[in-house]
Amino acid sequence: MIKSKVNIAIVGATGAVGKVFIDLIHERNFPANEIRLLASQRSAGKLIKVNGNDLTVSTTTNDSFENIDIAFISASADVSREFAPVAVKNGAIVIDDSSAFRLNKNVPLVIPEINADDLLLHEGITAIPNCSTIQMAMVLKPLHDKNPIKRVIVDTYQAVSGTGIEAINELSEQTKNYVNSKDISSHVYPHQIAFNLLPHIEPFLESGYTNEEQKMINETRKILHEPKMLISATCVRVPVFYAHSEAIHIEFENPFDPEDAKAILGNFPGIVVYDDPQNNQYPMPITAVNKNEVFVGRIRKDISCKNGLALWVVSDNLRKGAALNAMQIAEHMIKMDLIK
Ligand code: A2P
Repeated sequence: MIKSKVNIAIVGATGAVGKVFIDLIHERNFPANEIRLLASQRSAGKLIKVNGNDLTVSTTTNDSFENIDIAFISASADVSREFAPVAVKNGAIVIDDSSAFRLNKNVPLVIPEINADDLLLHEGITAIPNCSTIQMAMVLKPLHDKNPIKRVIVDTYQAVSGTGIEAINELSEQTKNYVNSKDISSHVYPHQIAFNLLPHIEPFLESGYTNEEQKMINETRKILHEPKMLISATCVRVPVFYAHSEAIHIEFENPFDPEDAKAILGNFPGIVVYDDPQNNQYPMPITAVNKNEVFVGRIRKDISCKNGLALWVVSDNLRKGAALNAMQIAEHMIKMDLIK
């Protein structure tokens, strides 16, 4: 019988993504029975309002998952590696926001609008893709279904909230110090982020790409079931608090009329086409903040190749890029009767 109410745990409840989980529980009227807020020892005893009630944050331990149906984990890959197997052993379904398990064969990597059926293959852990991957794949999927993609080149402009609360604070502090002509120090990033750009997200690999760039390649291939799709990415951290932007250039097998692309994208669930450049209408980070949709604009022919399109994609990295996608997976799993 389909469960009407579930007990949930949120590991990382005090973090940037955790806060959005808590907002979404209320906004989406998520069918939660017990809500267990978990974080590190540092936050034990902290009170957080959920659905109007003060809930106490507890330290995450091996005993945290008893009677939990769904554990959302959004802390770090190490925390996921430590606690996801424990939660599964206790009978919970894990929906994990880290990179720890994303490429494992027995772990579905899911964007519900694209590959919800992959959830049927889960063995306890389901992963959500990287935030930059999600907004790109949302746009590639409907276009690829219409006209096979040969090659993708993407450049990202990623907000600091993707790194977490400390990075949000660092941009804030540096901005204040910069405008007051005070000294600037960097702790989270290797360089100043205020009034600067860092073409460096996650460690560099031998190939010269960064781990973030390689994630966009590997994860997109897995989600679209296209293990050989040609993708190249450059990921850049920008001094924006919330919402990631991406310039995407796509080459297709056949010609693609930009007007057809607009219509196809506009009909895909979760996408809003916002594209009237003559009237200065195009998505910006401030367009997408606190919104659930992926916004697409600047849709035009890529004049550098025969069958190309160029477009600009913006989405709230903490919502569709993280907490919302995780919650949509949970809602699907409940509907699909996968929560026992
Ligand atoms: P805490 O606030 O207690 O440090 P962000 O990405 O915004 O930095 O948030 C990271 C989240 O991961 C926070 O909620 C943080 O809790 C949590 N976290 C960090 N280390 C652990 C850990 N060892 N066990 C559980 N949660 C952790």
